[in-house]
Order: sequence, then structure tokens, then C-alpha cells
Amino acid sequence: MSVPVLTFFNHKSDIGKTSLVFHVAWMLSEMGKRVVAIDLDPQANLTSAFLPEDVLEVLWDPDNTAQRNTTVYQCVRPLSEVGDILEPKTQAINPRLHLVPGDLGLAGFEDFLSQEWPNALGSGSLYRPFRILSSFWQIAQSAARQHSADIILADVGPNLGAINRSALIGTDHVVIPLAADLFSLQGLRNLGPTLRAWRADWSKRVDNWTNPAFPLPAGSMQPTGYVLMQRIERLSRPVMAYQKWAARIPETYRQSVLNQPTSPRVQPIDGDCLARLKHYRSLVPMAQEVRKPIFQLTTADGAIGSHSAAVRDAWSDFRALAVAILERINLPEESQAH
Ligand SMILES: Nc1ncnc2c1ncn2[C@@H]1O[C@H](COP(=O)(O)OP(=O)(O)O)[C@@H](O)[C@H]1O
Ligand SMILES: [Mg+2]
Repeated sequence: MSVPVLTFFNHKSDIGKTSLVFHVAWMLSEMGKRVVAIDLDPQANLTSAFLPEDVLEVLWDPDNTAQRNTTVYQCVRPLSEVGDILEPKTQAINPRLHLVPGDLGLAGFEDFLSQEWPNALGSGSLYRPFRILSSFWQIAQSAARQHSADIILADVGPNLGAINRSALIGTDHVVIPLAADLFSLQGLRNLGPTLRAWRADWSKRVDNWTNPAFPLPAGSMQPTGYVLMQRIERLSRPVMAYQKWAARIPETYRQSVLNQPTSPRVQPIDGDCLARLKHYRSLVPMAQEVRKPIFQLTTADGAIGSHSAAVRDAWSDFRALAVAILERINLPEESQAH
């Protein structure tokens, strides 16, 4: 049995993907779930949100030969020669939350993944192409086995390239963070067809390998819903503009992502909106400074006065989002004892 992988995906940058993975990972672990977070963005922002600089320095030190399996890239690198995937050495964030760190070097793996994509449809030996294309999923599953994880959360970069295609074929559930603006709606129109194409292309490849020598991801990429992020610009823009774009999201999501026809006579219900997240303003830099989720800030961190009410609101917002996600992906809220 594989552990479910959930990816927050949108090919637009600065929408709040990394921040969502960070906060939802923390919240799920507080709720008793065992979580593995994996940083598949070569920018490694999730990794630097979780880990202090002195730890990063050691993880990323090119001269440190003792550490050869501490980032995703280090674990896949032997594939580009004659080796196999390395078992990842994870970082404990709390007793129920472990991170497979990212690494800027991962960018160099993009071309390699891209070259292997057609080979999985070939008639030659399929072992290597499938090993390479499913490598992120294999690493995430190893980390999940090490920690008896209930769920894996993946963070990805803002593009539709080969790294993200590999991340998504290893994804069971997709949550799409969106802002209420024209760019987000346009992006949404590309996102749905891209996910469908990747799903179909992966399924063709899997069908081409009659006797797989190791488990492969299903590549189901089930749309779980979207999270509406309030942008900072929203604070200075007229409420009307925000409402206009926000009102168009349910229909565009249904058409593009769910591939369902819409009718002008049927008003789409907003059932796919998992949460509307506020802009947390000054709590964000305060939390980043101490590498904590916003909802764990204390008076000692500077969350005093009206900030402490905002911290409680953030706790309720992320709790509701985590509950909505668990419900949508059919993971019981009550954790089994491990
Ligand atoms: N709900 C929020 N309130 C305030 N700032 C946010 C919120 N979500 C994200 N941010 C900030 O917006 C910026 C982009 O977020 P990030 O999660 O890095 O986006 P992405 O991963 O999509 O590029 C970061 O500086 C982050 O701290
Ligand atoms: Mg990011």
C-alpha cells in the first residue's frame, strides 16, 4: 500500500503554495497525523522555511561527503550515472512531521527527466526510464515508510516543466491555490487540461510496461478543490474587482479542472472551495523569523494585542482547511495508533 501524496499546485508563482504546504503540514501533525513534507521545488523555499541556515549550510555543502542522501536531488543524482535511488535521510521538524529537503541542484535534473519521458513508451528496457520518472514518488514513499506517515505533502515550483510533471504523476490529490484576479483565472484554464494530459500520458506509459519490476505511482492527480488566497493588492483594490473575479472561479474551476460542462442557467455551487485564506499581514514576517506557523505564534514572539486574536483566527482557518482536505481525500480525522 502506498501513502497518499497531496500536492498544492499552480504554475503561477507567489500564490502561496509553499506557505500552504508549511502550514497544512504543521496543522495536520498537530491533529495527530504523521506527515512527510517533500520539497520538489529547486528554489527550496519550503526547506528554508523549515530549517535554520546552519542546518542548510551542512545539507547543501558540496564538500560534505558524509551527507549524500539528505536532499531530494542527492537521492536521485546516482540515476544520472549508473546508480539507483538513495534512501532519503529526513529532517525531523516535530515528532510527527518530517521533511525531505530540497536543493538548488535539482534544477539540473529537469533535462534528464525530460529526455526519459519518451523512453518509457519505447520497446527497449523499461526499468531505467520508469525508475527515473517515478523517482520523486519512490523517495517520498521511502520517507513515509520510515516514519509510518499517513500522508505526504509535496511543494513544487511555479511551472509546467518535466520536474513538475514527475511530481504530479506521483500525486494522488491536487489542491489548487488561487487568487481572485485575471491571471489566476487564465492560469486555471491551462491547469485542468495540463493535468488531464499528464494523467493520460502517464497511464499510456504504465500500460506499456506489462510486468513492472517495482511499484509505480497511479498518477491519479484527483482534483481535491481550491484555496482562495487573498492577495495583498486586494487591500487597496476595490472590493468589486475582487468579487467579480472570485465569482467566476467556481465555473472556471468546474470547466477546466473537473472538465464538466457548465450551463448559464445553472449557478455553480462553491463546494470546491476548501478555504478562503486571509492575508495575515505582519504575522507573516513574524512567523518566518522564528520558523513557526502563524497559528503557533506566542506573546514571546511578538504576537501581542490584536495580533493574538489574529493568531487564533489563523488557527481556526488552517484547522478548517486541514479538516476539509482530510474529508475530501477520505482520510479519517481520527488517527490510528501506530
Ligand atoms: N495568507 C497569507 N498571508 C500573507 N502573506 C502570505 C500568505 N500566504 C503567502 N504569503 C506570502 O506571499 C509570498 C508568496 O508565498 P509563497 O508561499 O512563497 O508562494 P509560492 O510558493 O506560490 O510562490 C511569501 O512571501 C509568503 O510569505
Ligand atoms: Mg513556492
